[in-house]
Amino acid sequence: MSKIMDIDWSKLGFAYIKTDLRYVSKWSDGKWDEGKLVEDNTLTISEASTALHYGQQCFEGMKAYRTKDGKIQLFRPDRNSKRMNESCRRILMPEIPEEKFIDACIQLVKANEAYVPPYGTGATLYLRPFVIGVGDNLGVRPAPEFIFCIFCSPVGPYFKGGMAPVNFTISDYDRAAPYGTGAAKVGGNYAGSLMPHKMAVDKGFADCIYLDPATHTKIEEVGAANFFGITKDNKFVTPKSPSILPSITKYSLMHVAKEYLGLEVEERDVLVDKLDEFKEAGACGTAAVITPIGGIEYKGNLHVFHSETEVGPVTKKLYETLCGIQFGDVEAPEGWIV
Ligand code: COI
Repeated sequence: MSKIMDIDWSKLGFAYIKTDLRYVSKWSDGKWDEGKLVEDNTLTISEASTALHYGQQCFEGMKAYRTKDGKIQLFRPDRNSKRMNESCRRILMPEIPEEKFIDACIQLVKANEAYVPPYGTGATLYLRPFVIGVGDNLGVRPAPEFIFCIFCSPVGPYFKGGMAPVNFTISDYDRAAPYGTGAAKVGGNYAGSLMPHKMAVDKGFADCIYLDPATHTKIEEVGAANFFGITKDNKFVTPKSPSILPSITKYSLMHVAKEYLGLEVEERDVLVDKLDEFKEAGACGTAAVITPIGGIEYKGNLHVFHSETEVGPVTKKLYETLCGIQFGDVEAPEGWIV
């Protein structure tokens, strides 16, 4: 009997649930094969694969949403395709043509349609595309073969409590160097974040915030998400840096803030000792959607923004508008929905 029967959609967290099928395509002799859907959720690869030794791999995160009338939609999959190709270029892996990428997403979602959570539960079907370097190889060089795979899993909120404020602490560790791989969605960036994340959680915080590695004065990222703040004079502000992962949610929120809420938008430095300029703050990303930041602990003091328990009004409006677009309740800008 299908496990779908056992899923309580409204109680889902951000955890792996095996679905029926996943998409797998292989690259060898200079080209991708057509790709196919398979039942097996394991991959057999050479022990000498570059993905295992030299971190030659990248991934994406995206979601499928069930609308009120029961349809299913993807949110800006062309952006994930472009970002994945940027990551592939950065670590010398073959790019995936955009048409192949989007077609694979559609095949996968159709094949696992029963796992797309019902409208109104707030849950979604998370898609995890990835590319790994495989095949026999020993020296530090690009792999002879590659695998492009997408699997999916129904998910609820990334941070416990969902759209409720959580506190973060500033990490002494760095996530990425200015011209390193911070802007690429490669696994190494996330491996390096595991220990600082654990240290933050052990201290009672949801996650940690990384400062710019060169000066340790500017906010860069909030765990695996981007940062935004709403200034006291109602501007939507988000950090600009070459080592930040360019969040599709962040760029979508910049558009929503400007075009739907009429706010001024600035991408610029956010100084950690000038948090007072913000009346609200949040973390944003595909997994996190918008997670309001209650407070930020820095040098032993907790700086509280709007409230540690209540969501600020601008953050709430941003969240409602973005989710409205994603779930089909608010008209989307041209080309955002597939
Ligand atoms: C996402 O927001 O989709 C991410 O990739 C963040 C994290 C789960 C790694």
